[in-house]
Amino acid sequence: MAQRTLVTAALPYSNNRLHVGHVAGAYLPADTYVRYLRACGREAAFICGSDDNGVAIEISALQEQSTPAQIAGHYHDCQARDFAGLRIEFDVYGGTHHPDYVELHERFSQDFFRRIHAGGYFTKRRTRQLYDPQAGRFLPDRFVRGVCHHCGFERASGDQCDQCTQMIDPLLLKNPVSAITGRPAEVRETTHWYLRLGAFEEPLRAWLESKQGQWRPTVLNFALGQIKQGLPERSMTRDITWGVPVPLDDPDAAGKVLYVWFDAPIGYLSFTAAWCAQQGRGTDAYRAWWSDPATAIVHFIGEDNTVFHALTWPAMLMAEQQYQLPTQVVANNFMNLRLGGEIRKISKSSTPADAPVWVEEYLKRGLDPDALRYYLTTQAPEAARTTFDPEEFIARNNGELVAALGNFVNRSLTFAARYFDGRKPDAAAATEADRALLARGTAALAAAGRCLDEFRFRAGLEEVMGFARACNEYFSARAPWASRKDNPADCAAAIATCVEACRLLAIGMGPYLPGAARRLANMLGADERLLRWQVPEPLPVGHRLGPPAILFAKLEPGALG
Ligand code: MF3
Ligand code: ZN
Repeated sequence: MAQRTLVTAALPYSNNRLHVGHVAGAYLPADTYVRYLRACGREAAFICGSDDNGVAIEISALQEQSTPAQIAGHYHDCQARDFAGLRIEFDVYGGTHHPDYVELHERFSQDFFRRIHAGGYFTKRRTRQLYDPQAGRFLPDRFVRGVCHHCGFERASGDQCDQCTQMIDPLLLKNPVSAITGRPAEVRETTHWYLRLGAFEEPLRAWLESKQGQWRPTVLNFALGQIKQGLPERSMTRDITWGVPVPLDDPDAAGKVLYVWFDAPIGYLSFTAAWCAQQGRGTDAYRAWWSDPATAIVHFIGEDNTVFHALTWPAMLMAEQQYQLPTQVVANNFMNLRLGGEIRKISKSSTPADAPVWVEEYLKRGLDPDALRYYLTTQAPEAARTTFDPEEFIARNNGELVAALGNFVNRSLTFAARYFDGRKPDAAAATEADRALLARGTAALAAAGRCLDEFRFRAGLEEVMGFARACNEYFSARAPWASRKDNPADCAAAIATCVEACRLLAIGMGPYLPGAARRLANMLGADERLLRWQVPEPLPVGHRLGPPAILFAKLEPGALG
């Protein structure tokens, strides 16, 4: 087992607000995993930040009549607030062009590029590209429109045709027009540096094969399938101004920047170094995380990032030669939205701006972040795309969090408060049923732990919730309100059992529902140590409990409307 684990979540582009699909895809499972590792007493670092460079940010700046720096800064702050609101707590939240991080990030990215260049893995090549003479710039594929060379559709975009959905070669578009100025585009020559991914086919294949049985088959099959088709060379430089300057003493490199998918994953490294420096350990301490085989590196991503994390980034690491390859790449699918009976993609253009699937909107309504964490985990798109259904959200909140988990905790702890002076009673008269319940709880935690070790978050939560339902049934069947008068010792044993069961629940909830777990810990009159994953010694008889409170709020129909 690794001594420590570096966990990353894909750097979100800082040109949009976060929605539940982003959260369910990468950030929530990553946060859950880190909390679980720490509850097990294992050392972990949790690294993320905004992906500020590249064409996507440039386009947004043009559309919003702003500058890339302003767009990136604005959305960086929004996204950081959204994460904090959902208790997704990174150790560092950097930004590839953020004023506090950009210097270190450029240095890391440029050093990385230079080392690959010195290793001879780039091919410098002249190529032809569309150019907008009026704007005085080369046009990225998405900045061009024209007539599709497959189907004749009039307004095809330079990367993909919206009518026939085929990939477009922008140089084959008929009557290409710049999307920036609306003027005809012309072909000009330019130079770029291409990473020869083909050189890494064999080592990548062997490395991926070694992950059989550990990684999700979807990720492995996709990556191995790409290798079978042959990996093309990929241009790692761009003719835009917003990004990391290409660090070569070559007049052909002047005015060019690194491809955003080259510098972004290097953010994982540069933000680790920034974090080490923030803690006063010096930037070089990042090597303990990145070069020491005792550290496991786990990347959490959405499905569209798979090719970069399972192939391009590992090939970059192989070419660079100083760092470890990822131990694990956990990719999730997208999440759709059910809206008025229709299932749709979540997007800026088709999802209402005030819909609560935007994290900012959800939080604005004052809803419990743990309720969202709960629903998104039950719907985790671990093996296929899933749907966010506002009505189902409310039904699960009320039927599961409130009626099973919250109800049991409330019944148990108000009973202890009222009839046992707010203390844990004596379990001396414990019955077989009492011992069986706690044994079931311990087994549920062990099973949930195995799920979490295997990145099966949804199944792990089901273990915890299965135990919560069993607790609720136990309480009804054990009927402590009936034994209270005629058999006080029996009643005491039942409530002592309930208090211990609440403790096991608090532990199981910890990684998934951190706010509720802490509230429950308070009600149990216990501190953080109570939430350690290792099943604890029972609380002593007479232990003073905290004040009972409602654990989860019931939602009215339409609460997410
Ligand atoms: N910004 C990309 C996206 O949102 C993800 C970048 S992940 C990294 O799809 F590895 F490049 F950091
Ligand atoms: Zn077409």
